[in-house]
Amino acid sequence: MGVYSERYRRSITDPEGFWGDAAKALTWYEEPARVLDDTRAPFYRWFSDGSLNTCHNALDRHVAAGHGDRTALIHDSPVTGTRAAYSYAGLQRLTARFAGVLRGLGVGRGDRVVLYMPMIPEAVVAMLACARLGAVHSVVFGGFAPRELALRIDDARPKVVVSASCGIEGTRVIPYKPLLDQALLLARSVPDASVIVQRPELHAELSPRDLDWDDAMASAAPADCVPLAATDPLYILYTSGTTGRPKGVVRDNGGHAVALTWSMAHVYDIGPGDVWWAASDVGWVVGHSYIVYAPLLAGATTVLYEGKPVGTPDAGAFWRVIAEHGVKALLTAPTALRAIKKLDPHAELMAGHDLTRFRCLFLAGERLDPDTYDWARSVLGVPVIDNWWQTETGWPIAANPRGLEPMPVKPGSPTVPMPGYDLRILDAEGRERPAGEEGAIALRLPLPPGTLTTLWGDDDRYVDSYLSRFPGHYLTGDGGYRDEDGYVFVMGRMDDVINIAGHRLSTGAMEEVVAAHPDVAECAVIAVYDALKGEVPRAFVVLKATATRDAAELEAEILRSVRDRIGPIAALRDVTVVAALPKTRSGKILRASMRDIANGRDATPPATIDDPAVLETLRLALRKENRS
Ligand code: COA
Ligand code: AMP
Repeated sequence: MGVYSERYRRSITDPEGFWGDAAKALTWYEEPARVLDDTRAPFYRWFSDGSLNTCHNALDRHVAAGHGDRTALIHDSPVTGTRAAYSYAGLQRLTARFAGVLRGLGVGRGDRVVLYMPMIPEAVVAMLACARLGAVHSVVFGGFAPRELALRIDDARPKVVVSASCGIEGTRVIPYKPLLDQALLLARSVPDASVIVQRPELHAELSPRDLDWDDAMASAAPADCVPLAATDPLYILYTSGTTGRPKGVVRDNGGHAVALTWSMAHVYDIGPGDVWWAASDVGWVVGHSYIVYAPLLAGATTVLYEGKPVGTPDAGAFWRVIAEHGVKALLTAPTALRAIKKLDPHAELMAGHDLTRFRCLFLAGERLDPDTYDWARSVLGVPVIDNWWQTETGWPIAANPRGLEPMPVKPGSPTVPMPGYDLRILDAEGRERPAGEEGAIALRLPLPPGTLTTLWGDDDRYVDSYLSRFPGHYLTGDGGYRDEDGYVFVMGRMDDVINIAGHRLSTGAMEEVVAAHPDVAECAVIAVYDALKGEVPRAFVVLKATATRDAAELEAEILRSVRDRIGPIAALRDVTVVAALPKTRSGKILRASMRDIANGRDATPPATIDDPAVLETLRLALRKENRS
């Protein structure tokens, strides 16, 4: 049996032994005697009697071990033309001081802090400072509109919000402070204070409730790490579900630190001193796990890149960053490579960049299409490794364990399940499907450490959303199959979640906005294929008899309201007026059939279809559109 098979089997048959051993890589105030606690199943808890601090493990213990001079963080910001490196000791000092600022504002263990930040070092410092105090951070991606920020503020009810005067998107300066102010007007829950990083590109007007980051830091006393229960929440990260109400995924301290430390070494083959780059955003799970926590827990150097794959300044930016900082491995989304390939198909901009230290490209966040895989392989000449996971799991469900036993790559597959993930392919009745046959991808409980423990403030919704469809299993929402060798193939979401340029959004949330337009009687938003972004949303609307606007005016208004209410990243570009939407006899809109025909696939309508002519009319209209 290979090393992977042996370890994987142990993780399933002896989870306590497996994760108990993995936990030894961390520094605990109280070593956990109890590894897996099932007393409140299905709310499993890991290391329930252990005590630790995640920030201590990410910073202080490396400094205490004599590695304070090692580079912890490199901020590379082509959009501001700046670069800065922070040693472990330096990052520890800043974090302790900002923890002092938060403590001065009354923030303590269990209090929430919402961060609405661009990709600047202060975002990392603020996250770690929360972890230091046992406060629970909730980072909201900057591409979300004030209404989405307000929803998250109302759910998390933070004591303090941390933000910046602006973000920089390519060549545009985006004022963040007015967006935050607007969100706070919309929110019912009002935080005690806001701390604002004033960036040189744009100074924000501060109100008496706002503190300037620099001023607050200048007068704060550093705060030390607080011992926490392993089961204490570390953060809440909101993600899109099938409705307009985002789900607050809760991550604990102990399980998270253990799983991420394990994954950094065994999945990504990154150890102390290695330079690692996750090109994502701190607002997404990739940013939480692999820009901030995992590389620092591992004692590596993490690159925080404030730029785009293209346009900052060109499609050679990724190669420049890899060469300049000696990056050993990069984790990014396939969309980023598609954007580069589109502008520089022969990777001519790679010339002159020394990539000899670069060993591996990891891709995640959306399906890795064969063209992108082949292109990346050929231009880079290093292994290109897919891995599949989601906000809820926090680290890969399926991957190629490069640091344990590199396995042969099968294009189209993220390889094999990682330890602790007891992956099953189920049919609609919950029976296991044989190799090669598609079904719902489910994970037998318990989930491994590091995965979500619940949804913030809503245990029932956690059970309803994930655990009730197949009792004893977690429902991933993805469909797929396993082949004879046990390789996993992920075919896509089986629900209304859409993945636009590696960003997860909900078509249900967009439908709520579209349906609110005064001329719209009913609507459906579905995901359609896009060569660059993988998927983009498309809306189909049925008008009220009283509708007054012409099609162009209606489309412009709907696009604007989706952008204003959800955010620019929702990227709805297309609204089509139809006479009727295809439905079942019970009135359910046939979104899956619509998705099939909009994507040029044959749609087999269910037997329960109400009026097959409606679907046929839509099919003919879309076919005509594709031809013209
Ligand atoms: N703050 C404010 N606005 C933001 C934003 C942020 N943090 N991130 C994106 N936006 C805006 C963009 O400026 C754009 O606005 P526009 O419509 O006015 O031009 C809009 O949201 C859509 O952004 P995006 O989907 O990123 O499209 P793009 O055309 O600007 O860029 C790519 C396309 C492929 C370059 C970009 O999507 C990309 O780098 N993708 C990589 C995916 C990734 O890292 N995913 C993370 C998960 S691993
Ligand atoms: P997020 O929660 O934003 O990380 O999005 C998770 C979803 O993205 C998954 O449920 C999948 O649908 C999709 N996804 C992520 N990684 C992959 C991958 N490697 N292959 C296919 N789909 C992926």
